[in-house]
Amino acid sequence: MSDPQLSLGRRGFLQRATAGMVGAAALGATAADSARAASSSASVSSSGSGRVIPFEGPHQSGILTPPQAAASFVSFDVIAPDRAALRELFAVLTDRVRLLTAGGSVAATDLASAPADSGTLGPVLPADGLTVTVGVGASLFDEQRYGLASRRPAKLTAMPVFPDDDMAHSTELHGDLSLQLCADSRDTVAHALRDIAKHTRGAIQARWKIDGTHSAPRPSGTPRNHLGFKDGIANPDTTSGAVTDALVWTHGGRDGEPAWTEGGSYQVIRIIRMLVEFWDRVSLDEQERMIGRRRDSGAPLDGSAETDIPGYKADPAGLFTPMDAHIRLANPRTPATASQQILRRGYNYERGLDTDGNLDLGLVFCCYQQDVSRQFAAVQSRLAGEPLVDYVSPTGGGYFFALPGVRNPHDTFASGLLAE
Ligand code: HEM
Repeated sequence: MSDPQLSLGRRGFLQRATAGMVGAAALGATAADSARAASSSASVSSSGSGRVIPFEGPHQSGILTPPQAAASFVSFDVIAPDRAALRELFAVLTDRVRLLTAGGSVAATDLASAPADSGTLGPVLPADGLTVTVGVGASLFDEQRYGLASRRPAKLTAMPVFPDDDMAHSTELHGDLSLQLCADSRDTVAHALRDIAKHTRGAIQARWKIDGTHSAPRPSGTPRNHLGFKDGIANPDTTSGAVTDALVWTHGGRDGEPAWTEGGSYQVIRIIRMLVEFWDRVSLDEQERMIGRRRDSGAPLDGSAETDIPGYKADPAGLFTPMDAHIRLANPRTPATASQQILRRGYNYERGLDTDGNLDLGLVFCCYQQDVSRQFAAVQSRLAGEPLVDYVSPTGGGYFFALPGVRNPHDTFASGLLAE
């Protein structure tokens, strides 16, 4: 028997996309209808954390949003046949993300039809702190496929190979489109990805995927990574509009950026394996000097609490914090390097064993910034050869541009990019 999904034409997948939700969000609903349904249906949701993270706005959610407990980072090839199909893809993505983030009841299906929803979250989709952040890779902006070369964000390139990278045989690199899905529970993330994959079939094809978790604070403060250190302590102040405007958001018309990029952000993903079998044999003193912080408290080596600011000026020879400590190289805290700060939003990953029986775990390093070369690339170059490189191994990832937000019920992802 033929699979009706497989035989869908270019217009087909969009029609399928709006099916499956009840009320105004059901089949044939406009984006505005869906938006209204989404906000009213949120109150129906009875399981999950109950958190609805607003979908609309000048910026996408999932960037300044404090990291939720579970994440998947997924990269796709775009296989939509032409620009009209690409536009449809972003319209479908907009509808699905809007509906999924709000939660709500799923339409009942008659016994003879395939169910509208996978059912893995039950008959009512919970509002569960879901965010889906959509990015585009440099390869989407080639001349041939969609004629977008002249609209490429000014700093968007394929991720270069950095010293100490181990990516020659990687199958987890780059991509035309990236989704960062985060939620308060793992099954909410998995459900959202499955729903999006179903409704975008024929337009995108997954290339690689990695799942991450954000552990609970142990015992308090910032959560820890697999090296046992608190990770994510020092980040730009995301409550300050002046700070995020200077460090996180791109501005259309400035620094050579096309107008449509206003409110977007460059996303860097690095899959960094940790060689914990070796790390666990290193003395605590050496571990702390490599990182530049105390393992238990997270405090800088010249301080006593994780929120203390390291005083490098008073320590010019590195007596307290070695000159090659990770945090000192990453952020020397000088006026000259202030504009290089990045917003880190990483997740721990753990995925079984390698073929030698070693643990395959590490960090899905993820950061956002206004200018990937001024910020991430500058920091990464300073970290080349740091003592930590003997214990970590970057094996994949990519550079993406997180699109500006969906501003109103009639807007869609990439509307500026694809405007006539
Ligand atoms: C597996 C690899 C990595 C590990 C284990 C790691 C670990 C850490 C730890 C424990 C801290 C201190 C706590 C904190 O402030 O969050 C830190 C800080 C930091 N890391 Fe990493 N990191 C890794 C990769 C990277 C990469 C690839 C970059 C960027 C290129 C980076 C940039 C930073 C920055 C900017 C800080 C904050 C420094 C400050 O402002 O004081 N890290 N990292």
